[in-house]
Amino acid sequence: MEHIPVLKDHVEKYLDLAAGDTVIDATLGLGGHAKMIMEAIGKKGKLCAFEQDERNLKEAKRRLKKYEKQTIYYNDNFRYLKKRITESGIEKVDAILFDLGLSSPHVDEPERGFSFMEDGPLDMRFDQKSSLTAADVLNTYEESELADIFFRYGEENLSRKIARRICEHRKTEKFFSTLQLARFLEKTLPPPRMKKGKKKHPATKIFQALRIEVNDEMNVLKEALEQAVEVLRVGGRIVVISYHSVEDRIVKQFFKSLLIPEASPEEMLYRTHGDPIVESLTKKPVIPSPEEVEKNPRSRSAKLRAYKLLIPIK
Ligand SMILES: C[S@@+](CC[C@H](N)C(=O)[O-])C[C@H]1O[C@@H](n2cnc3c(N)ncnc32)[C@H](O)[C@@H]1O
Repeated sequence: MEHIPVLKDHVEKYLDLAAGDTVIDATLGLGGHAKMIMEAIGKKGKLCAFEQDERNLKEAKRRLKKYEKQTIYYNDNFRYLKKRITESGIEKVDAILFDLGLSSPHVDEPERGFSFMEDGPLDMRFDQKSSLTAADVLNTYEESELADIFFRYGEENLSRKIARRICEHRKTEKFFSTLQLARFLEKTLPPPRMKKGKKKHPATKIFQALRIEVNDEMNVLKEALEQAVEVLRVGGRIVVISYHSVEDRIVKQFFKSLLIPEASPEEMLYRTHGDPIVESLTKKPVIPSPEEVEKNPRSRSAKLRAYKLLIPIK
C-alpha cells in the first residue's frame, strides 16, 4: 500500500525548503515526508533523520536508498537532538519537522501492543531496547500514580475509578495482553461514548495514557522543542504535527512562551523586553481536509503548527 505522509502539502509549504538546505526530520517513520524533503533540497541538501524504532528506520533507509549520501541517520530518541546534531559537526539547520506519535506499522503489528483491535502483549515501547512496558505500568504502579497518568495523559474523567479497579483486579490476575485490558475496560467503563456521531472505544484514552507514560513522551517532547529552536538558524522554520490534545497543548504552550517571552536581565541588554523570538506561521492549527481523512483515516486527529525563528536563542 502506498504510504501517505500526513498533511504533505502543508508540511512542504511551511518548511519552505530551498535547494541546498539542511533539514532535521525528527520522526523519520517510513520516510514519507523525508522523501518530499529530499526532492525539495536537491543534491546539495542534507537530511538529519531521527527514528528510535529500529524496524522503521531500516525500512525508511531502504526506501530512501538513493539519497543515502546526503542523509545522516540517528537510531535514537529525538530527546538527544542537539547533542547528536552537534556531534555531526552541524551548528544550525534551516528547517525541522516533528510528525509525532505512532507510525502505521506500530498500529498494524499486534505484537507491539499499541492497538486493542487485535491481541498482543501489553508492550507499547517505541524503542524496544528500553525497559518499561505498559504491563509493568499496570502491574506495578501505585493506584494514585495510575489515576494521575490516566487523567493527565488520557484526559480520562473516570481515572480514579479505573485505577482502583485495576489495582483490585491485579491482586488475582496480572495484566498481560491488549485484548484482556480492552475487555476489562469495557466492563469497568460505561458503554462507548459518542463523539461527533462516532463511538469512541472505552479503551482509547487509557491506551493513549499508557503509551505516553511508557515512552515518557511529554517530557521528551518538551526537551526536544527546547533543543530544536536552539539549532535552528534565524529565519528557519519548525513544523510540528500532533495527534492528540495533550501533545498539541505542549506544542502550543512552548511556542507561546517564545511568542510573548519574558526577557531575563541579560537578554534585556540586546533586545526590548517582550520581543517575540518566533513568528507563528499558522494562526490556527492546520487540519486535514475531509478528502485526506477519507483517504487516510489515521490523519483525522492531526494538527499542524508552524513557526519561524526571529531571534537566535543561543
Ligand atoms: C507519525 S510517524 C512519522 C511518519 C513519517 N513522517 C513518514 O512520513 O513516514 C512517527 C515516528 O516517529 C517515531 N518517534 C516517535 N517518538 C520518537 C522519539 N522520541 N524519537 C525518535 N523517534 C520517535 C516513531 O517511532 C514513528 O516511527
